[in-house]
Amino acid sequence: PGTGFDTDVLIIGTGPTGGAAALALATYGVRAHAVTRWNWLANTPRAHITNQRTVEVLRDLGVEAEATKHATPWEQMGDTLFTTSLAGDEIARLRTWGTGDDRIGDYIKGSPCPLLDIPQPYLEPVLVSNAAARGATFGFNTEYLGHTQDDAGVTARLKDLVTGREHTVRARYMIGADGAKSQVVDELELPLEGELARAATAYVLFRADLSRFVEHRPSILHWLMTPSANFGEIGMGLLRAIRPWHTWIAGWGYDLSGPAPDFDPESVRARIRGYVGDPDLEIEIESCSSWFVNQAHATKYSKGRVFCGGDAVHRHPPSSGLGSNTSIQDAFNLAWKLAFVIHGHAGPQLLETYSDERMPVGKQVVARANQSRVDYAPLNECFRTTGEADPVAAGLAKLRDPGPDGVAVREALTAALELKNYEFNAQGVELNQRYTSTAVLPDESVGEEEFVRDPQLHLQATTRPGAKLPHAWLLGAEGQRVSTLDVTGKGRLSLVTGLAGGSWVRAAMKLDLPFLRTVVIGEKGAEDVYRDWARIREIHEAGALLVRPDGYIAWRQPAATWNDDDALTQLRSVVSEVLSAD
Ligand code: FDA
Repeated sequence: PGTGFDTDVLIIGTGPTGGAAALALATYGVRAHAVTRWNWLANTPRAHITNQRTVEVLRDLGVEAEATKHATPWEQMGDTLFTTSLAGDEIARLRTWGTGDDRIGDYIKGSPCPLLDIPQPYLEPVLVSNAAARGATFGFNTEYLGHTQDDAGVTARLKDLVTGREHTVRARYMIGADGAKSQVVDELELPLEGELARAATAYVLFRADLSRFVEHRPSILHWLMTPSANFGEIGMGLLRAIRPWHTWIAGWGYDLSGPAPDFDPESVRARIRGYVGDPDLEIEIESCSSWFVNQAHATKYSKGRVFCGGDAVHRHPPSSGLGSNTSIQDAFNLAWKLAFVIHGHAGPQLLETYSDERMPVGKQVVARANQSRVDYAPLNECFRTTGEADPVAAGLAKLRDPGPDGVAVREALTAALELKNYEFNAQGVELNQRYTSTAVLPDESVGEEEFVRDPQLHLQATTRPGAKLPHAWLLGAEGQRVSTLDVTGKGRLSLVTGLAGGSWVRAAMKLDLPFLRTVVIGEKGAEDVYRDWARIREIHEAGALLVRPDGYIAWRQPAATWNDDDALTQLRSVVSEVLSAD
């Protein structure tokens, strides 16, 4: 590939979407060039919560260990605290990010990966530097101006912001990873549903040593109930640890119809001292900014040879911590498809499945993140009595009232905290995505999937086509534990069967496709010593699964197949159907 093209894939944006796309494409041997108008990567710590699915993606791309070095570890992410100030009364604690005694087993069982807290300025360089090491190229200080596309490719106009010179880049495909104000989405006229800038939040990045307030109760998120931080749906102030426990963000909601937030250094310091509860606290302010709460998604993610992902197509607030996670997962869904088409393994129709599969996810994420804000209302009602001179003091007095009023408030508090599990312990939201597209062939032998537990809170592992390959620990060749996710993925399709699946092994050998590996669970390197895989695979040992490079199941044959011709016919047809190949 390459003749007449400056690159195979031009990526507009080097945020989580563009960085992950460049990394995956470079890993798959595709030429990718990514541009950003800035001279480096994210300089403010926006995204941080990195969920298990994203860490699985990083693991598949070989950068999990490096990302982990830059992260606050899972156990330090801790409980989420509700206090009057860090030094003041603690009102409630919520076990969060699956670290609670009641949920940690689910999380450990569901994935080989932990959650991590990696602020965006630390994660983006991991994506971009590894992409560059694997051959992707980058243009900083480069503004994207517009594009045209034809049957063979895309021509984009770019401007070097240092010299002011304009030039064009010719690519086979383009990715619009240009964030919440996406010009590419506008140019393609992708329909956006929802509302932009429906609320606003002020953010201040600052340094102060707060160790003495938090190291005995590690937590990256502290909500502050103060009389002044009472605006908006959340109605509380925020202290978020960026680097434990000396670099922080203070945040608060403000009225969009009123004046801009007061970022005068003295009033910002006074506010932070109030949140911390230390009038003498030494504070170094790094930067102040504000961001808007959006609730919008594109109902289509692509047009022709241009594909959009990340905030460009799903715009929502940080509650639930889904933004950069969903962005990275968009890129991971798209990258292998582009690689397969560019390498001639798949037909171009495969690329249409990107929008079909990811759009419903984006829509759900936008709704979930916004609902997570709305769900603060019942909590606020427990802590605040409106109309009183000091609503928080009055609210707390009620919360501690030994009489029947107090009993009622305390019961309401239990229920209000329970509701927040949908923001903070929503493993199902993070891992239960199901894809429907031509790259997923349904298993006609079973009916519609029914969720046994709440699908937002609990992962339901299944080998149904369209679901993510379930994680089970196996015995690796060196005696170490390897996950089912480790023996699949990495840019190839995987045919997964058991020791009894000889017909499948022979079928794959006959087809001899460079992009298809066979995984025999039970053989050396993938032995089911715990028998976990046998318990969760839902198919006969002589049945088979076809797992895509992104870890999603494309097809399964639940029944035993003992006949070589049968296996070969089935495999040949499903591989070409899944890949939209002729
Ligand atoms: P992003 O906006 O990051 O990047 C856009 C890129 O496009 C940039 O490189 C920019 O320079 C480039 N660009 C745009 N226009 C251009 C042009 N014309 N020419 C050249 N380059 C151009 N998410 C999460 O998963 N967990 C979390 O905990 C949080 N927390 C959080 C907190 C706060 C306060 C905010 C505001 C956001 C979050 N997020 C989050 C969301 C997360 O930050 C967001 O979803 C991702 O940054 C989106 O990544 P993208 O790569 O899509 O866009």
